[in-house]
Amino acid sequence: MKPIIYLDHAATSWPKPPEVLAAMEQALLHASANPGRGSHHMAVKAARILYGTRRVLAELFGVKNPNDIVLTSNTTEALNMALKGYLSEGDHVIATMIEHNSVRRPLEYLRRTRGIHVDYVQVDEEGQPDLQQINKMFRSNTRMLVCSHSSNLLGSILPLREIGEMVRGKGAVMLVDAAQSAGTLDINVEDLSIDMLAFPGHKGLLGPQGTGGLYISPTIELEPILHGGTGSQSEAIEMPTVRPDRYEAGTPNTVGHAGLLAGILKVQEWTPKMIYQHEWELTQLLMEGLMQNDDLRLLGPGLGKPRTGIVSFVSGQYSSSELAFRLDREYGIAVRAGYHCTPLAHMASDTEQTGAVRVSVGVTTTQEDISVMLTAMKEIYS
Ligand SMILES: Cc1ncc(COP(=O)(O)O)c(C=O)c1O
Repeated sequence: MKPIIYLDHAATSWPKPPEVLAAMEQALLHASANPGRGSHHMAVKAARILYGTRRVLAELFGVKNPNDIVLTSNTTEALNMALKGYLSEGDHVIATMIEHNSVRRPLEYLRRTRGIHVDYVQVDEEGQPDLQQINKMFRSNTRMLVCSHSSNLLGSILPLREIGEMVRGKGAVMLVDAAQSAGTLDINVEDLSIDMLAFPGHKGLLGPQGTGGLYISPTIELEPILHGGTGSQSEAIEMPTVRPDRYEAGTPNTVGHAGLLAGILKVQEWTPKMIYQHEWELTQLLMEGLMQNDDLRLLGPGLGKPRTGIVSFVSGQYSSSELAFRLDREYGIAVRAGYHCTPLAHMASDTEQTGAVRVSVGVTTTQEDISVMLTAMKEIYS
């Protein structure tokens, strides 16, 4: 068996820090009871873990009250909660052409079932939206702008500060999909005028799959999309009014969020700035190598420009799936081919017929991994 060269961090980061595994083992052994549902010591320990996770998340994102962070099982659940809980009949929403299906599908569902109106802002070939076009799109019924912080196909980083100021000036709210930025880009919800922030635990925050969350500004009232037991206000037929219980029905993933807590502590130790710098340098190395091959077209920001740890490319000679298959089977390199759940971004990049190969690096990726990847590509083409 060849050792795996894992270059699919944009999907899920791997391997996890040993501290994450240890925290999960400890939680399973000593805190695997239902938080908020009992006063026995294991239930109290479980509740403390969840509060600890909320507290470090609040610290990381500049959130004043940790209870404004709802823990979810992934970004998709958080985005659904925000979109379905906020938008109603006749509302207008602005989104962008780089949105993932976890934004686009709920929006299109709400268009069909609640008659909301949606406009998608065009992006240029480097994955940047036209701010003037956004400005012109606002209408009297625009209630929300939703956008990714960073494209999961192109790696482009959107100017959230400028967009946030514009949204605030128009009296709408901004929902940010931080699936590709949480843990690698600095995010302060107050500074960036973010009203809701959806994020995964299993990517840049180094936690396990089945973790994530949604920050909801205290000024926003969402209709819960999940109804059920919370262990609080049990006599009421409605969901509790207090946060986070209002939005967290059912037994939570305490073990997973114990792992996420340990993952975030690692991110804080390394700092998002250092992680970004490490990943950016690796993307530049990778791009320089891939650019030697005239058959490849690289997508997203050019060499030397800011980007998250994603480099996608299209080959003239090979299909994306064939290249990914050969990299995996012949060299043990894990990359992702296809459409990356973002057909709009492929449309904007003129790759809707071909898809692309996406190589994504993480905090554990080394220069040696990139050099193995570049050598493999050379051999495939030789
Ligand atoms: C930009 C973006 N949004 C949303 C998602 C969905 O994230 P999750 O798998 O945590 O639901 C992804 C996943 O890759 C993504 O890249």
